[in-house]
Amino acid sequence: MSTSAAPVYMDNSATTRPFPEVIDAMKTVYAEQFGNPSSLHRMGYEAEKLVSKARRSVAALIGAAEDEIYFTSGGTESNNWAIFGSIRSAGPRYKHVITSAVEHPSVLATTEYLEQLGYRVSVVPVGRDGRVDPDEVLSLVEDDTCLVSVILVQNEIGSIEPCAEIGAGLAKLGPRRPRFHVDAVQGFARMDIDVDKWGVDLLSISAHKIHGPKGVGALYIKKGVPMYPLLFGGGQEQGLRSGTENVPGIVGFGLACDMWAQFGREARRKLYELRQRLVSGILEAVPDAVLNSPEPDKAAPHIVNFSFPGFRGETIVNALEQRNVFVSTGSACSSRKSKPSPVILALGMGQDEALSAIRFSMSVFTTVEDVDTTVSALADALKQLAPWRRRST
Ligand SMILES: Cc1ncc(COP(=O)(O)O)c(C=O)c1O
Repeated sequence: MSTSAAPVYMDNSATTRPFPEVIDAMKTVYAEQFGNPSSLHRMGYEAEKLVSKARRSVAALIGAAEDEIYFTSGGTESNNWAIFGSIRSAGPRYKHVITSAVEHPSVLATTEYLEQLGYRVSVVPVGRDGRVDPDEVLSLVEDDTCLVSVILVQNEIGSIEPCAEIGAGLAKLGPRRPRFHVDAVQGFARMDIDVDKWGVDLLSISAHKIHGPKGVGALYIKKGVPMYPLLFGGGQEQGLRSGTENVPGIVGFGLACDMWAQFGREARRKLYELRQRLVSGILEAVPDAVLNSPEPDKAAPHIVNFSFPGFRGETIVNALEQRNVFVSTGSACSSRKSKPSPVILALGMGQDEALSAIRFSMSVFTTVEDVDTTVSALADALKQLAPWRRRST
């Protein structure tokens, strides 16, 4: 067995290594700039200034205004708030929500709960490329539809959903149109986002996916869109999300955004090259591997998903771990359960493909050597596992 010297981390859609600059900035805030932004004295004012600066940095990355960014504890909270806040704001007459078949569990489980509350939820299927048809989404809008919620970049396969087209179509429906929420946790920073151009009302993002800290994210709420508060209390975040701000986390988040603003374009170009190298490397080393991710023009730069029919995803994860390569079977929230991936099934693939899917996800720290090590470790692992491979009947 060939064990690579340094660990090769290819699970960046689960979480990323924080930028060292982010850690340094956060340390300073924890140690020295620890005031409460609501305090009236100078230390409070200094903390408030740090939060405002970070808010501007986050806003700049999605084309939003500073006061349209509401800090939360992460993507899950933002998604829950976007959905529950929207249905509450819309009122009891509105009983219908539209979403896609490939949402992250934080949207999927929330909309499933809405069904228990008596809402109708239309789940739009995806094609083999993992994308919804925007016309199909729009055709499902009814008089009592209050929300359309669609993921931007699918977290297991990396498909980019046609959010700009959906937003443009919804805008044509006039002022009583349903509001549009986008879960942009996996797309944020890894692609250009323009909330105004896309006609987005609500957009969820998270810091730890872009080399920022865990436990901090944001919900973009378009100016003028009425939103029910998430937390009542001291009135922070314009009275919609009370609670003392996570200042160190917010500062780290803002700095990570500044860094992406500086070198994001170049980082994405490099990631697309690595993606290409990884895809062709795996197809060459394992000719019967099934590529689940779409073509690069419809896919994010950092996520590649393959099935290895006859093998179990968890077995491959373990075999790669023994070779110091860290990957995932799917979304981090569900990968400990030995179940076929609903996302791979939604592509029209069989149980075997859904049980043998592996997600390789890269970051700005990923190197050509990491990609090559991953490919050779995978080939080596599958060779070792071959005697246990199940043949499809
Ligand atoms: C698409 C997507 N949405 C939401 C989340 C949840 O984000 P967080 O981990 O910040 O709660 C994730 C995390 O994996 C994700 O990939």
